[in-house]
Amino acid sequence: MEIKNILPEFSLGLSPMEAVTTPCFRQICKKYGVDVLFSEFISSDALARGIESSCKKMDFKEEERPLAIQIFGNNETSLREAAELAAQSSCDWIDINWGCPVKKVAGKGCGSGILNDIGKMEYLTKKVVESVNIPVSVKTRLGYSDDNKPIVEVAERMQDVGVQLISIHGRTRNQMYKGEADWTLIGEVKNNPRMNIPVFGNGDIDSAEKMLEYKNRYGVDGILIGRAAMGNPFIFRQCKDLLEGKQASLFGIKERIDACKEHLRGLRDWRGDRYAILEMRKFYSGYFRGLNNFKPYRIRLVTTNSYEEVEEILSLIEQTFDYEF
Ligand SMILES: Cc1cc2nc3c(=O)[nH]c(=O)nc-3n(C[C@H](O)[C@H](O)[C@H](O)COP(=O)(O)O)c2cc1C
Repeated sequence: MEIKNILPEFSLGLSPMEAVTTPCFRQICKKYGVDVLFSEFISSDALARGIESSCKKMDFKEEERPLAIQIFGNNETSLREAAELAAQSSCDWIDINWGCPVKKVAGKGCGSGILNDIGKMEYLTKKVVESVNIPVSVKTRLGYSDDNKPIVEVAERMQDVGVQLISIHGRTRNQMYKGEADWTLIGEVKNNPRMNIPVFGNGDIDSAEKMLEYKNRYGVDGILIGRAAMGNPFIFRQCKDLLEGKQASLFGIKERIDACKEHLRGLRDWRGDRYAILEMRKFYSGYFRGLNNFKPYRIRLVTTNSYEEVEEILSLIEQTFDYEF
């Protein structure tokens, strides 16, 4: 199986995000039309050691396909072991995270920390490709710093060691999340005649209109949406609408509450009440963006420690704000 054979002509993807792209949220995004899904990043060291909470992050349902499990690390043995374990989960392919900029990851040469040592990036990627009989993709950034953006060469070298898809976030490691994503180099990778694997662009896509504009301007094979999808799985339907030449759909309070409750219940079923209560807190402003005078409800949602109360507040919001927005 080759990745490009199971992708649609243009792919809309939910960008991998730690503690966000959980199975239940991915399933909700799927309902709204997302084409490609990735797990949260999973430490290869932790997977190789059999840490239960890390192994749990490999859970997924059939309906989520095509789905990639994303691993990160810097140690050849654990990267290979983690890739083998991920492959046993029967995911469609393995994605290597060579993009995470946070100190505790990049500082150890994992994630985008590897962009200081392209030779090692190439070596480790090749070892992962060789260790499994399912495809491998990578997600990375433009480079390490402003004066070091080797992504065009990196993409070629990834392709040459057998990587079948590359996703590029248009920032450098040192930029973290600051400034604006620069898509011009993503376009250069896509237009490089040496490249024949799919190239996905990523960074700052926050509306269906911007998705369509960037798709047309840079000609990428897919676009990954991250932060703008948090509490807003509806963005994928809106993207699909525009891609099909239709007007973007609007989503009323009932649909938003239903998605939010499904998300809450899914997290509870997966990891228990406490995990659900705490992890949902970062999603409410997404689900209810645009509601006038929502703040007092949000404060209650993010301060209560009772699962039942969260459900009650959500029902109250539904009764109070019964208009389209
Ligand atoms: C909370 C959060 C967690 C993230 N976790 C991951 C991760 O596990 N793996 C990964 O490749 N990128 C991760 N990212 C980066 C996103 O996938 C994406 O590349 C980045 O947010 C830029 O896209 P956006 O502007 O659409 O959000 C994370 C980003 C955020 C905000």
